[in-house]
Amino acid sequence: MDDDIKRRRIGEFSVAPIGLGCMSLSYAYGTPPDPEAAQALLGRALDLGVDHFDTAALYGYGANEELLAPVIKPHRKKIVLASKCGIFRNADGVREINGRPAVLKKTCEDSLRRLGTEVIDLYYLHRWDKQVPIEESVGALADLLKQGKIRSIGLSEVSADTLRKAYAEHPIAAVQSEYSLWTRNPEIRVLAECRKLGVAFVAFSPLARGFLTGKLRDVTTLAAKDIRRQMPRFEPDNYAANLALLDEFSEIAATAGCSMAQLALAWLLTRGDHVLPLIGTTRMDHLEENLGTAQVALSTQTLSRLDALINQRTVHGARYVASTQAEVDTETFEEVRT
Ligand SMILES: NC(=O)c1ccc[n+]([C@@H]2O[C@H](COP(=O)([O-])OP(=O)(O)OC[C@H]3O[C@@H](n4cnc5c(N)ncnc54)[C@H](OP(=O)(O)O)[C@@H]3O)[C@@H](O)[C@H]2O)c1
Repeated sequence: MDDDIKRRRIGEFSVAPIGLGCMSLSYAYGTPPDPEAAQALLGRALDLGVDHFDTAALYGYGANEELLAPVIKPHRKKIVLASKCGIFRNADGVREINGRPAVLKKTCEDSLRRLGTEVIDLYYLHRWDKQVPIEESVGALADLLKQGKIRSIGLSEVSADTLRKAYAEHPIAAVQSEYSLWTRNPEIRVLAECRKLGVAFVAFSPLARGFLTGKLRDVTTLAAKDIRRQMPRFEPDNYAANLALLDEFSEIAATAGCSMAQLALAWLLTRGDHVLPLIGTTRMDHLEENLGTAQVALSTQTLSRLDALINQRTVHGARYVASTQAEVDTETFEEVRT
């Protein structure tokens, strides 16, 4: 990334505007790359100036943190390393959301060991466990901070109300939630709340899990275990209707002189200085393309066209099925309308 692009803040840290999420290097979208290829991609990201890396205990149930460890070790002091607790594989081998203090503290110890580091710069509660008051989970993270095991606290997929309650317990450095042209939920409240409190907003799935790149045309070819198969927007009928939006989107990209992926990221970078897109890719060429967004400037007119073209009224299909929606605390447009 160019040195001259404006850096953005996450709590006490200053980072390049676009960070790298490492989830798909271990799971989520079909078969992940082999570890050597994944580590080569991480190395290339470092060469290109990426200094914010995001992982989680959940990703590959620890394998993703182990993958990162040797690559980041020589650069440890120059990067912001983020990981997450609160979703893990329990003793029965089942994925569990659990925000109890003892569980979070144990997960942190495991992550520190796997990451081969003494401290995690940004440690997120991956999901608010609705069985546990948010203050209790954040209190556990505050204890970890006092012990020097983490440097700052983040929350993922929380509402503005939950953020406020958490912040009253301990300052929060970042909220991480899905945000892109096709997922506007943060615009309901939490984005403004973050700005008010001085909290960074880390936007995950900024390319709509591939949709906004224009390259994913046929969702019937997705692997059986690909998590997009569980998402209503990727069901073939909804997806076909969504693809129709990309004709004009691709025209706008051509006029702006950039790729569709870059257009989607450039739009996101205009949503506030506190917004930091978190990209995810398994491919070197996609990494380079996405980081090239720094060169793209969009006119006010282009931004208005994009806003009108792809938004919660024009996209077909819900973000999540009901059971997954119940796991998150993010505000929905349906709730606001009622
Ligand atoms: N907190 C949470 O609950 C949560 C949830 C989801 C994700 N996240 C974080 O956010 C990160 C990013 O999420 P994401 O992976 O869903 O992001 P994304 O960038 O929206 O989507 C990634 C998908 O887009 C494809 N892609 C990326 N760049 C492309 C390009 N230039 N051209 C064509 N296809 C492209 C990737 O395929 P290729 O591999 O082929 O490039 C992959 O299938 C994750 O790694 C994770 O750290 C957090």
